Amino acid sequence: MKAIAVFPKEKRVALIDYPEPKIGSPTQVKLKILEVGICGTDREICEFKYGTPPDDSDFLILGHESFGQVVEVGRKVTDFKIGDFVVVMVRRPCAHPYCAPCQANRQDFCVTGDFKERGINGLHGFMTEYVVDDQKYMLRVSPDLQDIGVLTEPLTIAEKGVREICCIQKRLPWGCNHNALVIGAGPIGLLATLVLVIQKFETYIYSLESETNLRAKIADAIGATYLSAKNYDLKKIIKKIAGNIDVIFDGTGASQLAFEMLSILGNNGIFVWTGIPGNKDAININAGYMMRDMVLKNQNLVGTVNAGYEDFKSAIQNLNVLSAKLNKFAEPIIQRYEPSQYAQVLLNPVSDIFKRTICFAKS
Ligand code: BGC
Ligand code: ZN
Repeated sequence: MKAIAVFPKEKRVALIDYPEPKIGSPTQVKLKILEVGICGTDREICEFKYGTPPDDSDFLILGHESFGQVVEVGRKVTDFKIGDFVVVMVRRPCAHPYCAPCQANRQDFCVTGDFKERGINGLHGFMTEYVVDDQKYMLRVSPDLQDIGVLTEPLTIAEKGVREICCIQKRLPWGCNHNALVIGAGPIGLLATLVLVIQKFETYIYSLESETNLRAKIADAIGATYLSAKNYDLKKIIKKIAGNIDVIFDGTGASQLAFEMLSILGNNGIFVWTGIPGNKDAININAGYMMRDMVLKNQNLVGTVNAGYEDFKSAIQNLNVLSAKLNKFAEPIIQRYEPSQYAQVLLNPVSDIFKRTICFAKS
């Protein structure tokens, strides 16, 4: 079967032929992959800056934003039947008995660093025609959401980030659901915007694209106020929001910008980082002022990665809301490519569409 793989030693990305996987234990499920989304992580792996092949392999099959359909089930599979639409979780627990999170099926909080991630770290991913995995890592998506099912995994990142916010802000029992500012209108930024709007935040999203860009229109359809960096600087943002900025959610990983934005976070505010900096150069910050503000304003700074089963469940629930908000769009929000177009899609970042995917089959 076809698979898209990266060979880090040879610095090569290729469409390869790979043996079709077989069900090897009674609780496993076999999926026909329909499509796989592409994100910044995949592009970094293709630039050989990130990603690790399985121990016994010199290549890594890419892809962690899965969407597939069940074609075969092991004899002890209780949760799925042939024809079901499914997404597969990305991270697998480490084997250490003393890793409490992994023992509790919360490998997204693994403390040893020995977890594995399909398509990223030590395990082959989903950019291939068939995939086998245990039913416990799979969740069902309803057939009427099959058009956007592939957005589930990036949505889980937003779900976990907002769950962290709500959880930490329980320290403020009078509630904090007022203003939120999202940085970056990429998929994570826009999906975080969706979750924040659902949680009743008055949500603003700040990004580089102009107000006529498709991403700005998506922000608008989701119910947020789009602030283009072409027209807004920090002062104008503060004036526009006109109130305490309770939450800032970063989806860019742009370190300079994130620290600048920290200066406008309000009292009792929380700043969430989900973006991983591409540029790892040192930046100049005034740590003294930063610490002073964070202390005097009771602020929190939180990093979050990956997502748990609960986050996948909420993401799947919120796909309904996303679908309702986006169905009036004339322009397609997902651009779909053939596996043979992998080089073009994986190597060129774009800023005028929402998500690009590689399609392996139709349902
Ligand atoms: C994925 C996460 C993963 C992270 C770090 C992200 O692109 O969505 O599931 O944990 O990369 O590898
Ligand atoms: Zn990703």
